[in-house]
Amino acid sequence: MSLVYEPAEDSFLFESVIEKYAKNKSVLDMCTGSGILAKKALESVAKSVTAVDINKSALDSITDNRIKKIRSSLFQKVKGKFDLILCNPPYLAEDKYEDEESKLATTGGEEGDELILKFLDQVKKHLEKDGIILLLVSSLTPMDKINKLLEKENLTSKVIASKKIFFENLEVLEIKLKF
Ligand SMILES: C[S@@+](CC[C@H](N)C(=O)[O-])C[C@H]1O[C@@H](n2cnc3c(N)ncnc32)[C@H](O)[C@@H]1O
Repeated sequence: MSLVYEPAEDSFLFESVIEKYAKNKSVLDMCTGSGILAKKALESVAKSVTAVDINKSALDSITDNRIKKIRSSLFQKVKGKFDLILCNPPYLAEDKYEDEESKLATTGGEEGDELILKFLDQVKKHLEKDGIILLLVSSLTPMDKINKLLEKENLTSKVIASKKIFFENLEVLEIKLKF
């Protein structure tokens, strides 16, 4: 039984923006954890909700059978396209002293941006033409490579919500294809 990420400030900030986006949309919640964002999408009358996580315990903790669950590393086992893709990823740089279980929920790779870069590299294949991606980033996430990849993938981003907590600033980005 692995640890399931306990919703925190990042989850609550993200949850607060979903209502405006999810109505009548097919929603994919990547890195779903406890499913807090998937559940909010359902409450916001999404057309369908699919939740993805690499952690089986996280998926097992989601009991609402209206949420389709896929155990997958990022998009590996995901098929099809979605109107709205949510992602509150692990985004911290690796801390050698953190245990492996907890790292799965918090560590985005050696520098903190690796998982987000993989997500952005794969996401367009699963996004409807006029679809929207909502992605949480932190001031602790190195943004250089992320911004370059967005540019390369012809994606545009803007901050739609932010919150300062302790030593970091959390932001939810709205990302779309440039037309
Ligand atoms: C910061 S938690 C976010 C959980 C939840 N969405 C929330 O907002 O509270 C990150 C989640 O990403 C999952 N995760 C880590 N690596 C993953 C991967 N390669 N593919 C899918 N999920 C992954 C972890 O198991 C964890 O549940």
